[in-house]
Amino acid sequence: MDDRPIGVFDSGFGGLTIVRALIDLLPAERLVYVGDTARYPYGPRRPDEVIGFSQEIAAYLVGEADVKMVVVACNTAASVSLERLRDRLDVPVVGVVEPGLRAAAAATRSGRVGVIGTVGTIASGAHQRATAERRLPVTLTCAACPGFVEFVERGETDSDQVHVLAERLLAPVRDADVDVLLLACTHYGYLARTLADVMGREVVLVSSAEETAFDVAAILAATGLGRARGAAAPAHRFLSSGDPGWFAEMGGRLLGPELATAEQFPIGDGSAGASPAR
Ligand code: DGL
Repeated sequence: MDDRPIGVFDSGFGGLTIVRALIDLLPAERLVYVGDTARYPYGPRRPDEVIGFSQEIAAYLVGEADVKMVVVACNTAASVSLERLRDRLDVPVVGVVEPGLRAAAAATRSGRVGVIGTVGTIASGAHQRATAERRLPVTLTCAACPGFVEFVERGETDSDQVHVLAERLLAPVRDADVDVLLLACTHYGYLARTLADVMGREVVLVSSAEETAFDVAAILAATGLGRARGAAAPAHRFLSSGDPGWFAEMGGRLLGPELATAEQFPIGDGSAGASPAR
């Protein structure tokens, strides 16, 4: 039994979709969440920048917040930094790419799966690599969706504008006649209504949230790191590198009552606000 919290991070609000699944599946566990809202979106940034941010946040989670496990709740970060974090940290590190693919492979009947993510995620080829390594019997059609994350971070999840953008960006996966669409960006769960409208009812939308939570549960069970049943009710912590007031307000709307207050996450290298690479 281990009373330490589980660390979770993302570029902003998207990882809260993973937090929801973790709270629902593992209600006794305490969570510490970092949303790097001062430096979002990660999608257009160079891989080395995203790797640097991931290492900084993971080091804080393990060093300052004393977490027993790190969940990289961001496909962009997981696509480029998961192996490095696993090499460097002495706690288990869970990503979202493989769980998402597993869920998609389980849901498809035709074997044709659409994958949508940020420019960084799609350019990394992480989903194709994982599909080949695990010999999953699926054919992927991948499409980058620049702009979606910004809509979510503004709290604009089903406006006409996001609908028009989705019509354009989802055209390749619609043309590929997929029967499953993997939301390979943790922000996209908040756009589910718009995405479902555009894709049509016969296409199943799949996220990595539940499968990722199952992976965390399996590791806790295998390592004995779970929190004791009957321990005091968990108090979660939420940190934002941007404005904690905005994070608490918007995050509370997206996640629910578990997120009522947020703390400032200290960025170490002064790169907040650096302009994303185009
Ligand atoms: N939630 C992140 C992901 O899963 C969004 C990345 C971004 O900030 O662009 O990729």
